[in-house]
Amino acid sequence: MQTSILPIDENSLKISKQLILSGKAVAIPTETVYGLGANAFDTRAVERIFEIKGRPNDNPLIVHVHRDYDIQELVSFVPEYAKILAEKFLPGPLTMVYKSKGKVSPAVSCGLDTLAIRVPAHEGAQKFLKYVNLPIAAPSANISKHVSPVTAEHVFADLNGKVDVILDGGKSVGGIESTVLDCTGEIPVVLRSGLITRELIEETIGRCDEYVLKDGEKARSPGMKYKHYSPNCSTELFDCNEIEKALELYANCISVGIKAYILCDDETARAVRVKNVLNLGSDENEIASNLYLKLREGEEVAQMIIAVSPRKQSGIMKGVMNRLTKACKK
Ligand code: TXA
Ligand code: MG
Repeated sequence: MQTSILPIDENSLKISKQLILSGKAVAIPTETVYGLGANAFDTRAVERIFEIKGRPNDNPLIVHVHRDYDIQELVSFVPEYAKILAEKFLPGPLTMVYKSKGKVSPAVSCGLDTLAIRVPAHEGAQKFLKYVNLPIAAPSANISKHVSPVTAEHVFADLNGKVDVILDGGKSVGGIESTVLDCTGEIPVVLRSGLITRELIEETIGRCDEYVLKDGEKARSPGMKYKHYSPNCSTELFDCNEIEKALELYANCISVGIKAYILCDDETARAVRVKNVLNLGSDENEIASNLYLKLREGEEVAQMIIAVSPRKQSGIMKGVMNRLTKACKK
């Protein structure tokens, strides 16, 4: 199969719709990361997404809908606080989990009685969703466990020959996946942190909990338990207070001819003053936006990425640390 990267226009939207209606997957841009979309009503199409990615079959998918889509078609109960959050943050990088009406294919939620729904803000994603006029199940468009893609070229690197079309919507500005929020209970619970932070949610509706996976417990968001987001090279993660240790490892690597790079925020980059740096920037939005970009860039040039956690740890950096920790998990 030949994989084409196409700009988003009438022609590519028409081709994409034909592909979706015939049960194929299409890669689409969103403001967080690129997604690999298929018709959420079509079980075979949804199963194909798992096959293409090599995704474990107990990790459910998010359904993406157009901003005008009435989600009550798909879910049975939307609590008041969820309506307030939707009004404030959607379209945007917030995925909300509800009790499912069971209308979409059971393959989407891997047999769970809930459904995760997202209304992406990216203009190209909105155009696509309007054009196909269907709920689209879409995980990130990477091979399972690899770094999520934030450009059409990243998708191509992972899925060349496995999808017909990648719609090119430029670099995903957000840079990390959406916040996943469980809205099935009285108080919402953050299952995966992202750009819409717990603090922002609390400011809006008063209370929000955060789910922490305990050892041996069954994950409420099954994606939590996996190694993820990992570059194809060795990695080592150090706390921002362990710069000396990071530098020692860097020096050891270089001395035996291992191409090592230090991945860190701008402050640390200026402190370490080594040649091979992958600089994430300074502002938290900038760091999130650069994380996958730099991990992908890093795996191209480095045999070893030595990551140093950014200084700031609250807000958006929680999502960044969650991804960085999993990327460097052994
Ligand atoms: O920003 C994003 O969310 C991107 C773009 C493409 O929209 N998508 C994305 O999908 O990150 P994926 O498949 O890589 O991650 C989906 C996450 C997983 O952690 C999964 O476990 C969780 O959402 N999830 C999906 N359905 C769920 C459900 N019914 N209950 C709990 N967690 C769910
Ligand atoms: Mg993913």
